[in-house]
Amino acid sequence: MKTLKFLIIIGIVSLGLYSFDKLLQEKWDIPEKYVKMKNPTYANQENLAIGKALYIKHCKSCHGKTGIGDGPKADEFDTDIGDFSSREFHEQTEGEIFYKSYIGRLDMPNYQKKIPNPEDMWFIVNYLKTLEEFLKTQKRKS
Ligand code: HEC
Repeated sequence: MKTLKFLIIIGIVSLGLYSFDKLLQEKWDIPEKYVKMKNPTYANQENLAIGKALYIKHCKSCHGKTGIGDGPKADEFDTDIGDFSSREFHEQTEGEIFYKSYIGRLDMPNYQKKIPNPEDMWFIVNYLKTLEEFLKTQKRKS
């Protein structure tokens, strides 16, 4: 009985350490299913307009008008909020961007309740893809 108690305590402690470690880690742990996910929507003008409107409503307060992370609420966190105009940002798959935007973590809110239709989040992802700085000088590949 004593051993069992001891084992349970060890279990709880290591679980705690494990999640603490997760909090400290900077890299996102994104399930393979999302990494490979294909955007089910098209980035036509109409969809981009919806994406932009949703971005302004839900995301601008932290990520800023141009997505560089200078929204009025961005100062409330120590976390690096990211830069949607950077090359690093656009090097990830759309599925990764979708996961981070929709599921979130820590200071980055989860939007599954606020934006119940995942398609709306894909419209935002389309819009985020237009914020790429270096594409202004380079032709888009796809
Ligand atoms: C309350 C402030 C806040 C709001 C509102 C917010 N975010 Fe974030 N976001 C953050 C923070 C903080 C991070 C960094 C989180 C981390 O790395 O742990 C982040 C990170 C991200 C990232 C990852 C950036 C990267 O470099 O890969 C994406 C994508 C993102 N947010 C999309 C969105 C979208 C889309 C919306 C609106 C639907 C939104 N965020 C609304 C605070 C916010």
